[in-house]
Order: sequence, then C-alpha cells, then structure tokens
Amino acid sequence: MGTCWFLKWVLVLGLLGNCVDGLGVNWGTMAIRKLPPETVVQMLKDNGIQKVKLFDADQNTMTALAGTGIEVMVAIPNDQLAVMGDYDRAKDWVKRNVTRYDFNGGVTIKYVAVGNEPFLTSYNGSFLNTTFPALRNIQNALNDAGVGDSIKATVPFNADVYNSPDGQAYPSSGRFRSDINDIMTEIVQFLGQNNAPFTVNIYPFLSLYGNDDFPFDYAFFDGAPQPVLDKGTGIQYSNVFDANFDTLVSALKAAGHGDMPIIVGEVGWPTDGDKNANMGNAIRFYNGLLPRLAGNRGTPLRPGYIEVYLFGLLDEDAKSIAPGNFERHWGIFRYDGQPKFPMDLSGQVANKLLVGAQNVQYLPTKWCMFNPNAKDLSKLADNINYACSRSDCTALGYGSSCNGLDTNGNVSFAFNMYYQVQNQDEFACNFEGLAMVTEQNISQGNCNFTIQILASSSSSLTTLSFMGSVFATVLLTFLFL
Ligand SMILES: *[C@@H]1O[C@H](CO)[C@@H](O)[C@H](O)[C@H]1NC(C)=O
Ligand SMILES: *[C@@H]1O[C@H](CO)[C@@H](O)[C@H](O)[C@H]1NC(C)=O
Ligand SMILES: *[C@@H]1O[C@H](CO)[C@@H](O)[C@H](O)[C@H]1NC(C)=O
Ligand SMILES: *[C@@H]1O[C@H](CO)[C@@H](O)[C@H](O)[C@H]1NC(C)=O
Ligand SMILES: *[C@@H]1O[C@H](CO)[C@@H](O)[C@H](O)[C@H]1NC(C)=O
Ligand SMILES: *[C@@H]1O[C@H](CO)[C@@H](O)[C@H](O)[C@H]1NC(C)=O
Repeated sequence: MGTCWFLKWVLVLGLLGNCVDGLGVNWGTMAIRKLPPETVVQMLKDNGIQKVKLFDADQNTMTALAGTGIEVMVAIPNDQLAVMGDYDRAKDWVKRNVTRYDFNGGVTIKYVAVGNEPFLTSYNGSFLNTTFPALRNIQNALNDAGVGDSIKATVPFNADVYNSPDGQAYPSSGRFRSDINDIMTEIVQFLGQNNAPFTVNIYPFLSLYGNDDFPFDYAFFDGAPQPVLDKGTGIQYSNVFDANFDTLVSALKAAGHGDMPIIVGEVGWPTDGDKNANMGNAIRFYNGLLPRLAGNRGTPLRPGYIEVYLFGLLDEDAKSIAPGNFERHWGIFRYDGQPKFPMDLSGQVANKLLVGAQNVQYLPTKWCMFNPNAKDLSKLADNINYACSRSDCTALGYGSSCNGLDTNGNVSFAFNMYYQVQNQDEFACNFEGLAMVTEQNISQGNCNFTIQILASSSSSLTTLSFMGSVFATVLLTFLFL
C-alpha cells in the first residue's frame, strides 16, 4: 500500500498516478505468441499496476520483474502439487523460485500460490490429497528460509469450495462444501497459524454463463431491480460479487476464522466468445468494480479494503476452451498488448484508454483468405477444421464478434488465423488450393482479421498441463432463487 500512497501523492502533484490501492492483475502466458516479458512489465509500470499474480515462476518473467518493486504472487501449478508433498522438494522449489530472487534489486515476492483452483468439482478430486501437504511444506520451507514473515503461501480456490445449503440460500449461511469441509477446515487453520490469507476467484460472468435464469443485472454493480434478502442478517444483496464474497466470510467464520484476510485472486469480464462476453458488458462490470475498490467499500460483512487481482492482463489464445469460447478473451488488453476499451484503474471512471504495449513488432500486413476462384469445395470442411484446431477461431461462435460473417468470411477467418500462427509461411496459405494471400485488410465491421505479433526470442508455446484459469462451474446460482 505504501507505493500506492506514494503514487497518490504524485497524482496530487499532477505528475502521474492511476492506482487503486491493492489492485493487481493476473499475468497468464498461455498465448501462441507472447509479448516479451520486458514489454509486459513496462505496460504494468506505465499503468501504475503495482501487483501481479503469475501462474508459475518463469525465469524470464521474474528477471523482467526484478528491480521494479512490483509485488508478485508466484505459483506452483497443480501438476506439481504431488511432488511438493516431499519436504526436500518443497525446500528446493522455494530456493530456486523464491529466495533466489530475495536480494536488493531482486523480485518483491509476497505470495506463493500453491496450485490453481485445485478443488474444482470438474477435477474429480484429483488434487484433494496433495494440496494441503504441498501448502504446508511450502509455507514451512518459507519459514525455515527466514522469509515466512513477509512471504505467505496460499491456495487460489474456485468459489465452488463453499456454498449455502438449499433452503437457506443466502450468504450468512455459507459453509465449505460438505464433501471437502474437513480438508478446507484444516487448510484454513494452517493459513491462520501462519497469518496467511485465503484466496478465492469470483466470477459473476460465470454465474450468468449458461444460466438463462440468472438475473442479468445481479452480475454487475449498478443495482439489481430485485435485491436478494439475507434472511439471517437482513442485509439486501444487489450483486452476486458481494453475495459470493460474504458466503465465504460466513464459511470462514463457521470454521473459526471469521477475520481471516481474503484476497480475490481473479475477477474480471471477457470480451468475446459468448453472447454476454463483449466490450459493453466488460465496461459496465469494471466501471462498477473499480470505483468500489478505490472507495474501499468492501462488502456488507467485510467493509473496507480488499486486495484484488483482475483477470486478466492479456488475451490468451492457447487456453483450453473446455469451459467455453470466452476463455481466450479475458484480457483487459488484446493479444498484442493494446487496450480494448476505456478503463480507469484509479476508479474515477474517466473515459480513457490504458497505456498499451510499446514497440510491438507485427508480422507484415498480409492476410490469408478464401480464394473465390477455387473450384473443388469438397475439401473445405476438412481444411477449416484443420485451421481452427491449430489456431483460435473462437470469435466465429454464436454471440461472438465474427459470428455475422458469410460463409466465405468464415472460411477466410479460419484460414487467416492459421496463417498468422504459422508466421505467414507461404505454405500455410494454400489449403489444397482453396486459399490465397491478400494485402487488403479483409476485416469486416466488428470482426478483426488480426495480424500476429513477431515471436519474441524468449517465448515458446508451453504445454503446461494446468488450466490458466477457470472451469465453468455453477457459482452460487441458488443465491437469487
Ligand atoms: C522454478 O525454478 C526452476 C529453476 O529456474 C525452473 O526450472 C522451474 O520451471 C521453476 N518453476 C516454475 C513453476 O516456474
Ligand atoms: C472427471 O470425470 C468425468 C466423468 O467421469 C470425465 O469426463 C473427466 O475427464 C474427468 N476429469 C478429470 C480432470 O479427471
Ligand atoms: C486420497 O486418499 C484417500 C484416502 O487415503 C483415497 O481413498 C483416495 O483414493 C485418494 N485420492 C486420490 C485422487 O488419490
Ligand atoms: C460461420 O461459422 C460459425 C461458427 O462455426 C457458424 O455458427 C455460422 O453459421 C457460419 N456462417 C455461415 C454463413 O456459414
Ligand atoms: C483492419 O481493419 C480493421 C477494421 O477496419 C482495423 O481495426 C484494423 O486496425 C485494420 N488492421 C490493419 C493491420 O490495418
Ligand atoms: C478490432 O480492432 C480495433 C482496433 O484495431 C478495435 O478498436 C476494435 O475494438 C476491435 N474489435 C474487436 C471485436 O476486438
């Protein structure tokens, strides 16, 4: 918070300043082409973003963050939780990914995220036995290394680890999910012993997604026509974020830790890939969220400051779309680091754009399109499938930015996405004679036919086996019944 204070004084002096206290961003890297880490760090600095949450502890990322003073949450992916059950391995991990950066001019690590949403119901309990031992070993290793006072281990949980029972579907009756109540209670006790925070990801968008009965306005912050009455406290809830957060506060209280600090590890709104994922809704969501954070309003059961990490910084076109096409469109910036919509991180709702990535290098201004003179169209479907399975065609889907294209437009979109992924290799725009290269911008209306960025020298398409973010889960949908 000290640095934010400083920035606010700078703001008072009229120099710069654009920082909600405690506001951070998630920097995921599951993109086909990644911006150089130095470019991304410069974006963070240019926008006054003082906290960042990572999904690993990649050396190039950490090197770029060194000396910036930006506070960092590093992470252990789910597939490494099992080996962290061995204390020597945990100690080694802490040495190689945490204490190694602990020097003057190093990286200001504040948290280690142990796993990512490991108890999602869709993981079928795969990480139920390995999460707590890993958490314990990592925090103990931090303590043994003498950094445990300033660096805390925490587990970013999905909001489906808690709920309210049927018939008492309001926040004050919140409890940890009954099938994991014992392990959650043990984890909470351990976090409490170490003065570590509870971390939760809260997604009003997912409450809406795939649930046409969900009251639309309840996903935002500007007032739902019919607030939900909490029969336990008499509090009226007018948005699902507050209701969800307070359900957690109640679950923590029931576990004997009602005052445990809570970090919102992920919250945000996607801009494409679903009928509710668009710029207008994202603007509405953030224009509600950011002023509340700036005003330290908190929630009815927890007024005051909340540490929050937006999800996410950049679009990630290599994320799994098992949860939905929107998964690749969570960025407050596009794939190329350019701002998508007006957003004011100071919470003043000024109609201005964030500062985009500087000196981004693009491939030449060329697109691949359907060849209108092609004769044999029998292989079209196979070629579209080929292109889309190796690139990102999510913008073509129902409710998405390119859904209105005609058939030729669809084909061209798919071919172009593949061509760009293949660095505009000439053989990548053939498709058995169905395609041709063009230097004319074939974008149509809202639908952008993009030019990829140049591969950065330090980037490679990783095959991490964890999911960068969320699985679509039913989130507290009963709260409004
Ligand atoms: C931890 O550091 C090691 C050594 O640099 C590296 O190989 C490993 O990938 C890092 N772990 C993560 C999760 O980034
Ligand atoms: C969980 O179980 C379902 C149904 O049995 C299966 O389809 C899915 O692949 C499993 N997921 C994981 C992560 O094991
Ligand atoms: C977790 O441990 C329990 C009890 O030892 C065991 O029955 C279960 O199969 C384990 N689950 C996994 C996913 O390993
Ligand atoms: C274009 O592709 C999308 C997604 O596959 C599909 O929903 C739509 O019907 C197609 N439009 C035409 C005109 O073929
Ligand atoms: C192509 O046209 C679209 C829409 O008119 C525009 O937004 C985009 O910047 C153009 N792309 C290039 C590379 O000029
Ligand atoms: C397309 O790109 C232009 C800028 O080049 C941007 O203004 C517009 O919002 C983009 N549209 C979508 C749907 O991403």
